[in-house]
Amino acid sequence: MGILFSQVKLARPEQNRCWDVLIIGREIVAIAPQLQAEGQLVIPGNGRLLVPGFVDLHCHLREPGFENKETIASGTRAAAKGGFTTVCAMPNTAPPPDTPERLHAIAERIAKSAVIPVKLVAAATIGRAGREATDAGALKAAGAVALSDDGSGIQDRTVLSAVLSRCAAAGLPYFSHCEDESLSAGGIFHDSWPIAAETTALARELSVVKETGAAYHLCHTSSGESVSLLEEAKSLGLAVTAEVTPHHLVLATEDIPDWTGLYKVNPPLRPRAEVEALIAGLNREIIDCIATDHAPHTAAEKALPADEAPFGFSGLEVAFAALYTKLVKKGRLRMERLLSALCREPRRMLGQYCPELGLKPGDPADLTLLDLDKTQVVTAESLVSQGKNTPFIGHILTGWPQLTMVNGEIIWSDKEFGR
Ligand code: DOR
Ligand code: ZN
Repeated sequence: MGILFSQVKLARPEQNRCWDVLIIGREIVAIAPQLQAEGQLVIPGNGRLLVPGFVDLHCHLREPGFENKETIASGTRAAAKGGFTTVCAMPNTAPPPDTPERLHAIAERIAKSAVIPVKLVAAATIGRAGREATDAGALKAAGAVALSDDGSGIQDRTVLSAVLSRCAAAGLPYFSHCEDESLSAGGIFHDSWPIAAETTALARELSVVKETGAAYHLCHTSSGESVSLLEEAKSLGLAVTAEVTPHHLVLATEDIPDWTGLYKVNPPLRPRAEVEALIAGLNREIIDCIATDHAPHTAAEKALPADEAPFGFSGLEVAFAALYTKLVKKGRLRMERLLSALCREPRRMLGQYCPELGLKPGDPADLTLLDLDKTQVVTAESLVSQGKNTPFIGHILTGWPQLTMVNGEIIWSDKEFGR
């Protein structure tokens, strides 16, 4: 049996032609200009692009505790629809996974209801309260891939130092939400939330990285000054990596049409000059990868007055189309760099096998089929995430995932996709 993708393009810039790709079991077994179908399910590629599945280092699945916003089932369906074949779930749930028992309880829910693999980020401090470091070694043994208090930053340098020392000893990376609350307190948008809230915390944290030797990953980088600090840290040989979100790469303060809760995100959208610095940082590989920070909330919550609405955007389903339309098609980002930031760098950071973008026999059948010519308007109804809170609603975007395969199994395919 098996599955045959017929006449797909591969991300091999030097070979602009179509290929047949044969999947048997969990892997790619053959790639050739033409393969004879022998009882396989044939998926007509018609020149669409087949790439390694996207991996998201940062999303919020909200379970347990906030199932009104999202569930593991709805969030992983949204991820599959967005072309993701693995996601990392952040620990700002209720309760947060701050002990091996709590982490196991989430892993059990995942085993029951996730449609794609989910890796777990455990809490860095007990109760995510920022006062006492969790047991990094025990959490790693229980399956955590990183520690983080995402949603808030650790304010106390002594606590951060304990967290990073334990991470270093356990061999776990720390995913940092960098926010100095003495500077961001009461802030909603950029005008009331200075960039210094990020950079002050980042400079302090990098000094702790230097002392502890921990592997440190900056979440949702939002400013040019942070890119400079990252560049300096990398030049010193520190084990520092960084992500940027699609929304911080594509939307600037100047693009906000009305100052409503819908546009509220942490860290806030920044002025155009910062967006340009983030794009440059991604192009220069100072910023390693793109992560969605998918943060679903209910429509009622996001409709509250701006000072009461929660922070965050639903991001998994529109990530690729937003980036392809607004950056690649405009010549601001090379396609190869976009794909490596979505497919390769996150795998590398998780210590997973990292396939070449152009794929080869023996690679795992974790794949995404992209239609780079398809144009669609983003509507709330089109989203399978429970969170409809994306500022891209109403945007006309080009370049959509059409089919997502995990372990050789088709997990999701577009309704209109002819097969
Ligand atoms: O906008 C955000 N929403 N930023 C965060 O850091 C947390 C997230 C959430 O959990 O809603
Ligand atoms: Zn987050």
